[in-house]
Amino acid sequence: MNRQNTILLLAIAVIIIAGTGLAVPWLLSGAQPTSQSSGTALVGGPFELTDQNGKRVTDRDFRGKFMLVYFGYTFCPDVCPTELQSMTAAVSELGEDAKRVQPIFITIDPERDTVEQMRTYVSNFGAGLIGLTGSTEDIVKAAQAYRIYFAKVKDESSSAEYLMDHTSLVFLMDEKGQFRRVFSYGTDAETMAKGIREELEKS
Ligand code: NI
Repeated sequence: MNRQNTILLLAIAVIIIAGTGLAVPWLLSGAQPTSQSSGTALVGGPFELTDQNGKRVTDRDFRGKFMLVYFGYTFCPDVCPTELQSMTAAVSELGEDAKRVQPIFITIDPERDTVEQMRTYVSNFGAGLIGLTGSTEDIVKAAQAYRIYFAKVKDESSSAEYLMDHTSLVFLMDEKGQFRRVFSYGTDAETMAKGIREELEKS
């Protein structure tokens, strides 16, 4: 390899590392802006899971619609129900455009979140929320595609056997399955609806 090629390769490596570095902090830190829009396609990807009616579904089944995607678990004491409430309220606020957006809840606790458990749980929320579960392998794959961190933690204070530590972000993917925006934990329904509307208008 000559010197010029070596320099070129080094430059490419630096760009790749810098790009990854930019994407990671906002995914991992709790202090992101309310919503962020960027051209990055680092988030999202194929998944194959089972819905709350026992039907196998893939990301391709949702093409043509925007997906609002959240990873969590039904035994979550507070964060997940709050986020799902905001997500579904945001979609409902879109009025006529609500049919262009599919809210999706993917469990990171497939051990306890069976199809039946998911069915009962999602029925508590509106906007046609879909609940997806699967084998541990299915879930790990989906979570990796969305850069979701999750881990079992022992809970001393509760009667539940364990809690799940997990990333709490709401992802907006477009009708082609491409990443558009991420809403940080605690974004209210109105702000989320405004962000979704802005992205819908671009399509
Ligand atoms: Ni949670």
